[in-house]
Amino acid sequence: MRTLISNGTIVTTEGSSVADVLVDGETIALIGADLGGAGITADETIDASGKYVIPGAIDVHTHMELPFGGTFAKDTFETGTRAAAFGGTTTIVDFAVQSRGASLREGLDAWHAKAEGNAVADYGFHMIMSDVNDETLKEMDQLVAEGVPDFKLFTAYPGVFYSDDGAIFRAMQQTAKNGGLIMMHAENGIAIDIVANQTADSGMTDPYYHGVARYSIFEGEATNRVIRLAEAAGVPVYIVHLSSRDALNEVRAARDRGAMAFAETCPQYLFLSLEDMKNGFEGAKFVCSPPLRPKDHWDDLWTGLIKDDLQLVATDHCPFDFEGQKELGRGDFRKVPNGLPGVEDRVDLLHDGGVVGGRITRERWVELISTAPARLFGMYPRKGTVSVGADADLVVYDPNRRRTISAGTHHMDVDYSCYEGREVRGASDVVLSRGSVIVRNGEFTGKKGAGRFIKRSTADAARLA
Ligand code: URP
Ligand code: ZN
Ligand code: ZN
Repeated sequence: MRTLISNGTIVTTEGSSVADVLVDGETIALIGADLGGAGITADETIDASGKYVIPGAIDVHTHMELPFGGTFAKDTFETGTRAAAFGGTTTIVDFAVQSRGASLREGLDAWHAKAEGNAVADYGFHMIMSDVNDETLKEMDQLVAEGVPDFKLFTAYPGVFYSDDGAIFRAMQQTAKNGGLIMMHAENGIAIDIVANQTADSGMTDPYYHGVARYSIFEGEATNRVIRLAEAAGVPVYIVHLSSRDALNEVRAARDRGAMAFAETCPQYLFLSLEDMKNGFEGAKFVCSPPLRPKDHWDDLWTGLIKDDLQLVATDHCPFDFEGQKELGRGDFRKVPNGLPGVEDRVDLLHDGGVVGGRITRERWVELISTAPARLFGMYPRKGTVSVGADADLVVYDPNRRRTISAGTHHMDVDYSCYEGREVRGASDVVLSRGSVIVRNGEFTGKKGAGRFIKRSTADAARLA
């Protein structure tokens, strides 16, 4: 099957130009001006006049079916990757979970079983490490060899995913040897639990107090601590879901002194705020960790994205229905499952708030949503770019189409949207995954199970730059 995408503006991190793209089978075969006029034929031509042609977006932080707070994140690999595709995201990297007392292998196998035969677009895995011991340290090397080279540890959630400094440092020492990357959820969970318990005990139990109790200074402290541990181990470290200027200041200071510190932020920290957590139990829709911050953090995070102290934007997609799931925390914010839906909306929110909003160029937008994730997470240049030989994961993107985000029309399997009623400019018209059209003008045309596991490599040069 050959597909010619004609006359679109190809946008990559390097620049933008009008050209045609010939897709042959699963990869990009040719890029050039007026390929049709030059005698190139195809089975199908997609007219991209007036539209962008961008590399399929990559979301390196999702949680399909994550067990949390006595329930499971609602999207499966089928519904989650399908929703992602509607929003222009053609690859996700999800977090497999090692349950306490089990092996990494068992956790990874369980996640392969959830994804294989179900995902409609490509996927990879990171590994959440719940126990650091001699056995799991050895297993890390094997996972790196199998294309799962990143390990998430937590300074948050005591009694659940929490690791102490010794465990984190041992895991970092192991990645110094095997080339893997430690990803850190950096909030001081021990201190947070003290404040959260004091807050709830004094009768402040609404979801809003989840946001109040998780001080941004606790995020800043943990961010500094894990970066310092990584410097001592001589390894890169990646801070996930960075939400506050306190944490950003630590990442910036570390990078300025030459430390190999990297970080992502998420749309919820750029577009939503602590104010959204008010309104009684409705605030549960916005309970995530780190929590939403006061609006005055937004500009700092945008500056971080502009100056590359933040390298990319991922979603931390972790959807729980309001009814029946978020409701588990009625009367006690500590019991609300933590997480928000978002995999479908990231590309458009960033286009609207970033490019249309005049904060970033369209080239930087492509870098934040696709190229940087591919580079940092060992998929480049197979993914994350529009170039000959790359996977034909492509999006024909209409920068002028307006759409209103709503739970009534989204494709994520969750009963609310954090952005209900928000109008955004920019939307994906046609989405290709390895050469096959999987979304066309609002219709899903892909296939359950067509997504493949992406075996990722270790540190790209960009990681160490
Ligand atoms: O609230 C969040 N972020 N839920 C998902 C789990 C995590 O910590 O990433
Ligand atoms: Zn986390
Ligand atoms: Zn997460």
